[in-house]
Amino acid sequence: MQILGIESSCDETGIALYDTRKGLLGHVLHSQIDLHAAYGGVVPELASRDHIRRLCPLINDLLKKSGCSLTSLDGVAFTTGPGLAGALLTGAMAARSLAWALDIPALGVHHMEGHLLSPMLDADAPEPPFVCLLVSGGHSQLVRVDAVGKYSFLGDTLDDAAGEAFDKTAKMLGLPYPGGPHLAKLAESGNPESFAFPRPMTDRAGLDFSFSGLKTAAITAYRKAGEGFALAGQEQQLHADIAASFQAAIVETLQIKCLRALQQENLSRLVVCGGVSANRHLRECFSANIGSQSIAGEAVSISYPSLEFCTDNGAMIALAGALRLQAGESAALDVSVRSRWPLSELAEPGQIKA
Ligand code: KG4
Ligand code: ZN
Repeated sequence: MQILGIESSCDETGIALYDTRKGLLGHVLHSQIDLHAAYGGVVPELASRDHIRRLCPLINDLLKKSGCSLTSLDGVAFTTGPGLAGALLTGAMAARSLAWALDIPALGVHHMEGHLLSPMLDADAPEPPFVCLLVSGGHSQLVRVDAVGKYSFLGDTLDDAAGEAFDKTAKMLGLPYPGGPHLAKLAESGNPESFAFPRPMTDRAGLDFSFSGLKTAAITAYRKAGEGFALAGQEQQLHADIAASFQAAIVETLQIKCLRALQQENLSRLVVCGGVSANRHLRECFSANIGSQSIAGEAVSISYPSLEFCTDNGAMIALAGALRLQAGESAALDVSVRSRWPLSELAEPGQIKA
């Protein structure tokens, strides 16, 4: 089966072709970072308009690059949610219209299931059961994965997601949008031990997260120390030290909860996905402190998507849609999107038929 995937839930237009026998045939991506940079965050109306401009040229571009044609498609998968309603609608309408014209099925995909399955785009895909840490701009969740579509929820964020906390702290430090990667870069020249930021909710049982207090601690430290450092002409060093200390706190918190989840579930396989999984410091700490452990007599293994598939992309949507279409899932012809959609409401592949 050859499936076209369309991602348009936020500020990236991603298109991909996935073949259930051959794997990923190709993918293209247009990022709207430059478009939103002047506003310090995503402007939903601008995002929708840009998706509309990009979708058809990107689809043509991908077909040309991968030497495929529309007539070889067996289905179209698109992101139904969660995300910005207007942005989601552009991808949904494009996918539905194309599928209608070609007389092939179209299927709405959950954006976070796309992230969760993204390491399976690699040749050495992790096999369930495993614990998955989903860390993106909107989510920080721990999920037990027993099979595709068979998810048990272990922990969630009570307030800000990890990526959101990165972005808000970066903004306070005057870094450009999206802040996460910029903060990570700045942290490289800072001392992670200069500020003792909290490791929220690690002192009690449970697998939930809360990052808004950590972000406030960083802002308070910045205000307190700012004047002295400015007088000494060391503002840049203060920024780097706050970035490094903040990153260390968030990564250690995630690390403690992941290890706890693996021990609780007696599983030795961890999968980390979503934009924050691109963070280099996170990967180094996880390897050193979780990868060195053994659980149920086995060394813990950790899998990540390749860097290009950590943040939003069409490949993960094409893959998730392909697995569900292959299992016989189908959807009605109406177009609806869900800006909010808990992953826990997903059914197993093939159970929903139009
Ligand atoms: O998965 P994603 O592209 O979009 C959502 O589904 O939200 O994740 C974007 C998030 C942003 O908050 C961004 O700042 C963060 O991932 N991010 C990073 C890094 N790269 C992206 N955060 C920390 N370090 C990074 N290297
Ligand atoms: Zn995402």
